[in-house]
Amino acid sequence: MKPPKSPLYEVRRSKIQGRGAFAIKPIRKGQRIDEYWGEAITHEEADRRYDDNNGRHHTFLFVLDDDTVIDARRKGTDARYINHSCEPNCETIIEDGHIYIKAIKAIKPDEELVYDYRFEWQDEYEPEDVRYYGCRCGSKKCRGTILRVPVYLRPTIREWLAGNDVKKPRKPARKKAAKKVAKKAVKKAAKKTAKKAAGRHPHVAERHATRTVKR
Ligand SMILES: C[S@@+](CC[C@H](N)C(=O)[O-])C[C@H]1O[C@@H](n2cnc3c(N)ncnc32)[C@H](O)[C@@H]1O
Ligand SMILES: [Zn+2]
Repeated sequence: MKPPKSPLYEVRRSKIQGRGAFAIKPIRKGQRIDEYWGEAITHEEADRRYDDNNGRHHTFLFVLDDDTVIDARRKGTDARYINHSCEPNCETIIEDGHIYIKAIKAIKPDEELVYDYRFEWQDEYEPEDVRYYGCRCGSKKCRGTILRVPVYLRPTIREWLAGNDVKKPRKPARKKAAKKVAKKAVKKAAKKTAKKAAGRHPHVAERHATRTVKR
């Protein structure tokens, strides 16, 4: 059942993009604000619904787990209007199969609620992809893209965003101790990739999936 409307915020025009969620009451650090609620669909259905090759990215998807994505477009809560920021005042938590938005700072009325989407990085990304997922959060700490950028690529991405399409460095080799973990991760990733339809902008990047605390 759809959760009741949160009394803590309302939807208004946002300077970041389109509509956003704005506090209408003081919100305490740690306070749970709303549930990111919507239709539970499979990853395949999400790929079918959202064509990312239409020149601009915009979805209401949030990955719940390997099998399920929440699509808040049609019947979702207003949490779907919470924009991304590289300097967030909220985070998302997955608890018992539900996605919640929680304040990580005290938030005053009229402040926009934002969390870090950290769209999943894909190794094949090129400068145009990084620019495609450009961030307009306006924070001094803005990394320029909504994508979660691996540490070794941060200087490269800065160059790309400045318009200098320098060559991508090789991915650093993993340390011995991490090899076993890495092997497992590669196997898991390969399984996941095989499940997904190939595309220039795989929809997985379109899903708010990270910075999620599992409890
Ligand atoms: C779940 S919607 C958020 C609500 C959206 N502003 C609206 O009016 O529908 C997610 C989409 O908003 C846009 N968006 C959110 N934060 C952004 C940011 N910091 N920079 C650029 N676009 C952003 C992207 O198009 C993203 O796919
Ligand atoms: Zn930003």
